[in-house]
Order: sequence, then structure tokens, then C-alpha cells
Amino acid sequence: MIQIPRGTQDILPKDSYKWQFIEDTLIDVCEKYNYQEIRTPIFESTDLFVRAVGDTTDIVNKEMYTFKDKGDRSMTLRPEGTAPVVRSYIENKMYGDPNQPIKVFYNQPMFRYERQQKGRYRQFVQFGVEAIGVEDPLIDVEILSMLMAFYESFGLKDLELHINSIGDFDSRKEYQKALQEHFRPSIDEFCSDCQSRIDSNPMRILDCKKDKNHPLMATAPKITDYLNEESLSYYEKVKSQLDKIGIKYVEDPNLVRGLDYYTHTAFELMSTSDGFGSITTLAGGGRYNGLVEMLDGPKETGIGFALSIERLLLALEAEGIEIKNPHTLDLYVVTIGEEARDYASVLLSRLRKNKLTVDMDYKARGVGAQFRDADRKGATYTIVLGENELETGQVKLKHMATGEEVETSIENLGEAIK
Ligand code: HAM
Repeated sequence: MIQIPRGTQDILPKDSYKWQFIEDTLIDVCEKYNYQEIRTPIFESTDLFVRAVGDTTDIVNKEMYTFKDKGDRSMTLRPEGTAPVVRSYIENKMYGDPNQPIKVFYNQPMFRYERQQKGRYRQFVQFGVEAIGVEDPLIDVEILSMLMAFYESFGLKDLELHINSIGDFDSRKEYQKALQEHFRPSIDEFCSDCQSRIDSNPMRILDCKKDKNHPLMATAPKITDYLNEESLSYYEKVKSQLDKIGIKYVEDPNLVRGLDYYTHTAFELMSTSDGFGSITTLAGGGRYNGLVEMLDGPKETGIGFALSIERLLLALEAEGIEIKNPHTLDLYVVTIGEEARDYASVLLSRLRKNKLTVDMDYKARGVGAQFRDADRKGATYTIVLGENELETGQVKLKHMATGEEVETSIENLGEAIK
């Protein structure tokens, strides 16, 4: 038997309403903040991610689904949403749009070849937002406020927002040097990835999953000690504004994020719920001041974040928050005999045009089995259609929960239900 690929999951009809509810709720928040949806292709040129995410990151080095197409071009199933959005922003010259900044959201599957565990999949759905074309601490605050609004709109409470500034490129140069001096004497004790990153990208060492408990990690220099005046004042403004609007945060000087394009504000939202499991990051994001230019666009900057719906569902589960199935079935038509079945199929199509949710039996079951089926399907009302009903044009509309019956003409059935 062919099985589902490892790290992927089917969302079955019994659960899909949860996804729809989550997506609708998140889109609602986006509306409030005036963000519009963007949809980009599932695959892009491999080069886009190599350049944007960075060739020393785990995503690019180990996790990409890369393949050659029939024209011998290297393509990659997108592992994240920011690079494609920025590519589209440049390609569609959105920087020339009079309506600035460009504020978009996306809700799309991403692909990373990771080791499967709770909360970590090879295909997962990221809901993300990006604001491009503005460098202002207030838009950073808008993005952070949106992140919290996303989670709070579900009533989630066990949340901890971690923020940091990883400064501008100048601040980072000094910091990279300090990290090299700190790690180099003992670099033999680190994994082979870290050994190669000490020269190419020492900040990546701080994000290493294998060596995260090495004692030198805790004593490593902090980026916040290397921020130049401009970076520092940007960070201060973001924090003071967060204080003003009452968004709580924890400063986390070790937060560097797993992608290379970040500058200044970087953040992750953690679940502090006991039941959540070992991967506690619900969402992550930050500012990316060099990315648009790096992808051959103009000198514009952006900020955004993404969460996965899979982890949001885990957080809801961990906090015992249930999503109610909003699906209702207004009427189930129980039929007796061939003629009644034919008639029912016409009746259903009329009632559906009347905006009612209606169903019938298609398996030629007996009356008792049809009532059981109506019950299973959660029908609010049933009617029985037999020879007699067809002749008189009258039916008994039965309320399933109370057993109460009301007589009505088939003609008026829709109105009677409403
Ligand atoms: P990221 O931290 O790589 O950032 O991913 C963001 C979120 O996607 C994570 O916090 C997590 O919720 C979810 N996620 C990542 N990998 C997996 C996985 N294997 N299984 C389930 N969920 C996962 C980015 O992707 C950036 N593009 C975010 C961003 C937007 N930065 C600026 N704008």
C-alpha cells in the first residue's frame, strides 16, 4: 500500500473545519490591519532561496526540496514565504505603487526536509505577513501587535514574546569579529557545521541545534553590546512603543533567527503551555533591510513574520481551547420508494437554491437506517417522503432534538425550516 510521505499529513473532513476557522480568523485580523493577500508559486528558482535565506543556513544546506525541471533549471519547493514575496514585490514593481507601504499576507504550504517530530513537518502551512517599503519603528510595532492579535483572537494566553535587535550591517561586522574570537580557540569541540561557519557566518553558530548546550554558548558576546547608535535608538523606540500599547516582551540577546536576511528587530513567539512539547516556537520574524536590494530591487526595507497553522493547532490543544464545528445540516429527507427518491433529488436542488443545507440517502437504506444516518449527520430537521406525501403535497417537519412535528406543504418547506 502506498503511504503518505513522512512529515506530511492529510487534513481529514472531520478536522478541516478547524483549519477553515483558523484561516478565517487570521484573515479577519489582517483585514483590521489593512493587509491584503498575495499568492506566489509553490516552486521558485533555487537561487532565490540560496541568495535570500543564505547559503550557510540549515534551510538552504540541508532542508530544501530541490529538483531539476525538464529544461534543466534548478527549482525548489518554497521553504519559506518572505523571499518569494520580495521577488514578487520587485518583479511587479510594487515599489512604484502609490499605495505604500505594501502590506500583504499569505497562507501557503512550505516544504522543508526536516526530521519529523511533534510540531515539525516536511510540509506545513505558513500564515505570514510582510510590510515592505518602510523603515519606521512604528511599523515594527504594528507587525508585533498583529502577531499578538493573531494568537489572542483565539483566547490563547500561555504566550511569551521574545525580541532582540541584531542591528544593522555595520553593527554586525564588529559583532561577527567578537564571535569569532570567542569561539575560535575551542571550535574543535563544535560540530562540523559550526566549524565551517566560524569563518563564513559565525552568528549561525548561536542558532546551532546540535551545540546549543555547549558552555561557550551561554558566555558568547551579546549583539546588544555591539549595536551602533542608530541601531540602538531604533531598538529603544520599538521597545518604548510596545510598552505604550501594553505588549509584554522578554528581551532575548541570543535570538538570532535561522535565516540570514534579518537586521534590527528580530522576534519569536513562544508557547509556555506545559502540554506544548519540546518545540516551543509558535512564530518568528523580523526586519530585513538588505533583502530587497540583495535580490536586485531598489533600496527598500521590510518586516514580517510567519507562523505555522500546525503549531497554532497544537497551542490550542495544549491550552484546552476547542474549536466548535460550525457545520449544520438543516434538513435530511427520508425517502420511501424510487419515486420519492427522484422527487427528493429535485426538492433538494430547490431548497439549496433557497440557501438551506440539505441532504438525503443515496444508498437506498431502510427508513430506520435513514433516520440513524440523519442523526449521525447532525440534521436539525427531517421529513419523510413516501407515496402519501407525494399525493397530498403535505409533510411532517420533525425537529430531531425535541421530536416535535409540524405539518407543512412541500411548497412551503423552505420557509417552514427558516
Ligand atoms: P521561520 O522561523 O523559519 O521564519 O518559520 C516561521 C514559522 O514557521 C515558525 O515559527 C514555525 O511556526 C513555522 N515552521 C517552520 N518550520 C516548520 C516545520 N518544519 N513544521 C511546522 N512549522 C514550521 C520564516 O520562515 C520567515 N520567512 C518568517 C518571516 C516572515 N520573517 C520575515 N517575514
